[in-house]
Amino acid sequence: MDKVLIQGGTSLEGTVRVSGAKNASLLMLAAVLLTDEPCILRNVPNLRDVHFFISLLQGLGVEVELLSPNIWRIQAKKIHANPPYDLVRQMRASVCLMGPLLGRLGQAALPLPGGCVIGNRPIDLHLHGLKKLGCTVELKNGIVHIHAQQLKGNHIFLGGRFGSTVTGTANILMAATLSSGITRIENTACEPEIVDLCHLLTCMGARIEGIGSPQLTIYGQQKLHGADHTLIGDRIEAGTFLIASLVTNGHLIIDQFHTQHLRALLHVLENSGAKMNITANQIEVFPCLNQLTPFEITTLPYPGFPTDLQAQMCVLAACIPDLSLLTERVYPQRFMHVAELQRLGVRITLEGSTAIVQGGQRLSGADVMASDLRASAALYLAGLIARGETQVHRIYHLDRGYENFEQKLQALGAKLYRTAE
Ligand code: EPU
Repeated sequence: MDKVLIQGGTSLEGTVRVSGAKNASLLMLAAVLLTDEPCILRNVPNLRDVHFFISLLQGLGVEVELLSPNIWRIQAKKIHANPPYDLVRQMRASVCLMGPLLGRLGQAALPLPGGCVIGNRPIDLHLHGLKKLGCTVELKNGIVHIHAQQLKGNHIFLGGRFGSTVTGTANILMAATLSSGITRIENTACEPEIVDLCHLLTCMGARIEGIGSPQLTIYGQQKLHGADHTLIGDRIEAGTFLIASLVTNGHLIIDQFHTQHLRALLHVLENSGAKMNITANQIEVFPCLNQLTPFEITTLPYPGFPTDLQAQMCVLAACIPDLSLLTERVYPQRFMHVAELQRLGVRITLEGSTAIVQGGQRLSGADVMASDLRASAALYLAGLIARGETQVHRIYHLDRGYENFEQKLQALGAKLYRTAE
């Protein structure tokens, strides 16, 4: 196991190119199962989660080839419906194999995902939607067995206690592309990764109306074909670097992603006094830490404030004198970073699903433990501004979702290196 050592106190400077979107890539690696023809996916980030998903596909009989860094050729010519359980169990996102397997083979069997460090993550909405498409669902020994003689289009409402579901929307959408008839899904997730998935599916011959809106209409097809698709940039990685620039009072240019995907973050930062120059695909962030004022955010499904940036925003709040409030409405228990940030000197307390941060204190380096992907990123950011040395343990979480994070930070002047525990 590796850890990272961070020497705090450097302002980041330079240009960083954002990698392809992790969460779009996982959905698309599942979508290629919908055709027996080859698909080319470009701008796929080189991440632990991606390699893991590729192994899952290989376990289903899919042929994969890395054509060049970040470009995969994938062909699901002959596949079966039982992904290797020991792999599936290790990765939550494998749940999005369900829709494509049902569309293609009429059956799927996957272990029911258990709890997760960021909170309870049920799949009731996925199963509700699949039942509406004509599937039967049976839980035996912890494994969900789903069958469909023939998927049939239907009218489906896909909302739950916490709003829409990203992978749930992807599952129902993908299954519906190979159903008979018309499917109308209401309250779909509108996340850019879902929009990008719709674009790939359209390239594969799917007919989808309402892309980008909370109501999708899918005209089922008998067959989809191969496609060549370039993934969008990772908005969460971009947002993480934006926050890194602000907390280190740095001067970064963050390049090659759709800045409109970060509207909610940019709105909060502009109101807080951040100095930025924003174009369609690039943001320049100027040193302005001393001018920032406290903020309040509430995480919500897109276009609301992304839960995947809540932990990083706790670090920004710690740099701004006075009280900031961060409320979690997507994963009400996603606050594993709080205790670790306290170790670094952040004055942060939890009231229900709200983190209250009294900012303005000087942080000092400490040993901290990464608990999940975004919490890890937050700890790196805190380490960059803490006095002295911070050691972040269990950084394998970070490798799941940030391509070359340390190399990118080093190129911007950060003093950090990875070493074995
Ligand atoms: N929910 C239900 N029932 C369901 C599905 C979801 O109650 O059947 C609840 C969840 O418990 C949660 C909320 O609905 O409270 C939203 O969950 P959603 O299904 O949208 O999350 P997800 O699809 O499992 C994806 C991303 C997450 C990201 C969330 C929210 C992927 C692979 N994962 O998860 O990404 O936080 O959407 O935007 O796309 C990350 O990248 O670090 C990460 C965790």
